[in-house]
Amino acid sequence: MLNWMDSLYGRSLMRLTSFTDEEMLNLIDLAGQLKARRHAGVRGDLLKRKNIALIFEKSSTRTRNSSIIAARDEGGGAEYLTRPDIHFGKKESVKDTARVLGRIYDGILFRGFSQQTCEDLAKYSGVPVWNGLTDDYHPTQVFADFLTIKETFGSLEGVTLAYVGDGRNNVANSVMMGCAKCKINYVCCCPKELEPDPKVLAEAREVAERNGVTIKVFNDPIEGVKGANVLYTDVWVSMGEESKTAERIKMLRPYQINMDLMRATGNIDGKLMFLHCLPAFHDYNTEVTKESGALEVTDEVFESKYSKVFDESENRMHTIKALFVSALCDRKSV
Ligand code: CP
Ligand code: NVA
Repeated sequence: MLNWMDSLYGRSLMRLTSFTDEEMLNLIDLAGQLKARRHAGVRGDLLKRKNIALIFEKSSTRTRNSSIIAARDEGGGAEYLTRPDIHFGKKESVKDTARVLGRIYDGILFRGFSQQTCEDLAKYSGVPVWNGLTDDYHPTQVFADFLTIKETFGSLEGVTLAYVGDGRNNVANSVMMGCAKCKINYVCCCPKELEPDPKVLAEAREVAERNGVTIKVFNDPIEGVKGANVLYTDVWVSMGEESKTAERIKMLRPYQINMDLMRATGNIDGKLMFLHCLPAFHDYNTEVTKESGALEVTDEVFESKYSKVFDESENRMHTIKALFVSALCDRKSV
């Protein structure tokens, strides 16, 4: 029997602060239940007759496919809409598009540039809207990351996560807030120029303090990762920032996750894992790495026993399903 909080019904996810700490933990738990159910071969109908619009301004492999399969698994449908496909933001305002799609669909997942666009979709559509990544946040990713940590270590509490790389990007912002909400100690290892935005940092620190955990920022990665159980990184250049590639590579080379950095945690023989939201540059099999020669993680770490990146990827589907089900399925009717 699946169980989740009634309070999640009809709710949008703009950023992790859209949910209480309890709701966030409850969603991770629901995703675990849905995963077990799917692995047992059960396909349900919790999203029967529910249709979800997927508006994507930026590329995606995991978020797009997770959303489509999550809906389909539970008897629902999802339609992938890119900017050239619809009038969105060109011939038709965000407000009007939101009002149209809200009449047709039961929910909207948005991936794009501006956080404001995501918030306007929620404001004007009248249906739940989920943020599938903006320039500022990537909240759906964190549910999958934390389900992976919970599966591997048994619990989230007491874990220390060190994020190494671009400390102020969308993934870093959401992982930092997620840690504060779920009682994980967070360490950001990044160059001075890429430290978290002071406002975002202060907001996360306030939540961390309330939950009795810490948020620390280090410019020295060797010092910062000491005692960490999770080393987490992301690409050095996010979508939309391609013009900054050369300067980022120069800044972030000392922050590559390699076996020396894994050893610097002091946990190489204990509780330690590597996470990456993916896509990752870890070898020279992509057009980008062939040209730049820069990797944020070595192949040795990426392919090691510490790496849980494909569990993490799979968990994108189960956690997105949990978001759709909890928002669109009235638990009383199940
Ligand atoms: N991690 C993630 O969001 O991947 P995609 O860009 O492939 O959706
Ligand atoms: N920070 C990356 C995350 C990709 C999933 C980007 O925005 O491109």
